[in-house]
Amino acid sequence: MLELKDVCFTIKKDGEDVNLVDHVSIKVPKGHFMAIVGPSGCGKTTLLKTIAGLNPESDGALFWEGRNLSEEGDFSPSEIGYVPQFSIAYDPLTVDESVEAATRLRVRTRDTAELDHRIDRVLEETGLEAISDRPVKVLSGGQKRRLGLAMELVSDPKILLCDEVTSGLDPRSEREIVRLLHDLSRKDGRIVLSVTHSLAHLELYDSILVLHEGRVVFHGPPDRLNHYFSVKDTEEIYPRLSAQPSERWQASWIKHSASYYAMLEKTRERLIASGDLSLERVKTAPADGDEKSDTREPADTRLPGFFSQFATLLSRRWRIFFRDRGQVFLQLAILLCFPVLVTLFSDKASGNIRRYSDIRQDNMAAEIQEQQSVRADQAKVGSAISGIIMFQVVLLALMGSNNSAREIAGERPIYEKEKFGGLRPMAYLWSKIAFLSCLVIAQSLWMAFFVNLFGAFRGEFVEHVIFLLLINASMTSICLAISALMRTAEQASLLSIYLVGFQLPLSGAVLALPEHIEAFTRPFISAYWAWSGSVEALQSQVHGAVKSVIDTSLSNQQACVFTLAVHITVALTLAWIGARRPQWE
Ligand SMILES: Nc1ncnc2c1ncn2[C@@H]1O[C@H](COP(=O)(O)OP(=O)(O)O)[C@@H](O)[C@H]1O
Ligand SMILES: [Mg+2]
Repeated sequence: MLELKDVCFTIKKDGEDVNLVDHVSIKVPKGHFMAIVGPSGCGKTTLLKTIAGLNPESDGALFWEGRNLSEEGDFSPSEIGYVPQFSIAYDPLTVDESVEAATRLRVRTRDTAELDHRIDRVLEETGLEAISDRPVKVLSGGQKRRLGLAMELVSDPKILLCDEVTSGLDPRSEREIVRLLHDLSRKDGRIVLSVTHSLAHLELYDSILVLHEGRVVFHGPPDRLNHYFSVKDTEEIYPRLSAQPSERWQASWIKHSASYYAMLEKTRERLIASGDLSLERVKTAPADGDEKSDTREPADTRLPGFFSQFATLLSRRWRIFFRDRGQVFLQLAILLCFPVLVTLFSDKASGNIRRYSDIRQDNMAAEIQEQQSVRADQAKVGSAISGIIMFQVVLLALMGSNNSAREIAGERPIYEKEKFGGLRPMAYLWSKIAFLSCLVIAQSLWMAFFVNLFGAFRGEFVEHVIFLLLINASMTSICLAISALMRTAEQASLLSIYLVGFQLPLSGAVLALPEHIEAFTRPFISAYWAWSGSVEALQSQVHGAVKSVIDTSLSNQQACVFTLAVHITVALTLAWIGARRPQWE
C-alpha cells in the first residue's frame, strides 16, 4: 500500500509560499492502476516527482508498505520505476542494447543466461521483441514509450510511475499503451500510477485522481466521475472545474471521500475473488526446468557493483561514439588536420641559429652589422618556435573543449534518470574519464609526433609530450566540469569556447600583460603553464632565442607540471560535485 497523508510541496514565489501540491491524501493498494488527471499545469508531474522522492515533500508524510518514507529513507532504486516525460534512451543504440544497458546498470544478475532471460521477458511484456534490433531513432512515438517502460521494468519495480506516456500518440497507440499499463498492474501486486491530461480510456483504470491547482478534487472509480462532477461527458470536467475555486472543490471532496473509498474497496475485493488481480508474485516454471534461470524469483536487490556499472557505461559510450559517423569524422579531421596546420609554420622555426662566437670580422662596422643580423635571425627563429609551441598548446586546448563540453550536459536528463535508478555518480564520472583519456592521449601524442617529424620542436621530446598531454587533459577536465555544472549543452559549449579563446591573450606568450594583472590571471591560464614548460624543454640555444623575444617570465618545469596537475584535480573535483548534484529540469 502506498499512502500519502496531507502531502504538500511548497515553493517560494515572490516571497510567498505557494503549494504546488496542496495537502494531498490518498491511499493506493497493491495491484492498483490509477490515473492522475487534471488540466495542464495543475501539478501532476510535481505530485509524481514528490511520490518518487525527487521533490522532497514540504509537509505531510508518505508511507510505503507501512514504512514512513520521509523518516526511514526513500524507495530503494529497484523498488520504483519512473518513466519521465522525456525519452530516456540513446538514439544510436538499438532497442535490445538500450534494455540490456538498463538491466546491467540496475540489476545484479548471476550469469549471462539470467541477464538474457530478463531482457527477453521485458521485451516480450512490452511487445518489443519483433523490433528489438531497431535503432531508437527510427521508433514511432508509441514504440518509444514502450521502450521507456521496458527500461523501467528490468528491475521488477513494485511501483511504476508514468508521466504522460500516452500524450502525443494516435488514439490506437494510446489505447494500446493504457492497456499495457493495465496489464502490468495485474501482475505481482504492482502499483501503476499514470499521469495524463487525456480523458480517454479512463474505464481501464481502477481509480481516477482528479487534480486541480495542486489539490485532490476527486479520487474514485472511473464510472462515478461524470456523476460526481454533474456532467454528461467526461470532456466537460475541465471546464466544470473552473466554475468554483479549488479550495471549494477540495472541501467538498473531503466530505465525500470515505464513501468513494468504500466503493473502490468493494471493486477490489471482487477482482481478487474472480482471480483477475493477483497480488503475489506469479511463479512461472522456467522453460528448461533449471531452477536458477527462473527470473521471477525475487531479484538480488543489491545494485550492480562499481566496476560493473563503469564497464557498462564505458562500452556503451564507445558504441555511441562509433555509431555517430559525424562525430567520428569530426574527431578524425581535428586529430589529423590540426597538427598539419602547425607544421605549415615549421619552415621558419627550423632556421639555423648562428652564434656570435662563430664569426670573426675585421672591422667594427662589419662586426656590428653582423651582430645585428644574428640578432634578427635569432628573433625570427625564437618567435617562430615560441609561436609554434603556443599554437600547439591552443589547438590542444581547443580539442580538449571539443572533447568534453557536451559530454555530460548533452545527456543530463538520461543521466539523472539513471542516477535515480541506482547508477553511482562515481562510476559515471570514471567512465567519462576513461573515455576522454583515450581521446586526450591520441590527440596529444599525434600532435607531438607529427610536429616533431617536421622538425619544428627542437628540444626534449618526452618533456614536450608531457606538457601537450597535460594541457589537453587540463582543458578536457575543466570543460567536463563546466559540462557537469551547466544546465544545458549550449551553455556549456559556449562557456568552454570562451575559456579557450581567452587562453591565448592571457597567456602572456603573445602580448605581455601589465604585471599586476598578470600576477592575478596567470595561475588560472593552463596554456601559459604548458607553453612555459615546453619552452623550458628546448635545447639551450633555441631556448636562448625564444627568451630573447618574449616579454614575459618563464616558470620552471616542476611548477608547470604542478600547476597543471592542480588544474586537473580541481576540475575533476568540480565535475564530481556537478555530477552528484541533482539536476532535473
Ligand atoms: N520547481 C518548481 N519551481 C517553480 N515552479 C514549478 C516547479 N515545478 C513546477 N512548477 C510549476 O508548477 C506548476 C505545475 O507544474 P506541473 O506539475 O509540471 O504541471 P502538470 O504536469 O500538471 O502539467 C506549473 O505552473 C509549473 O510551472
Ligand atoms: Mg506534466
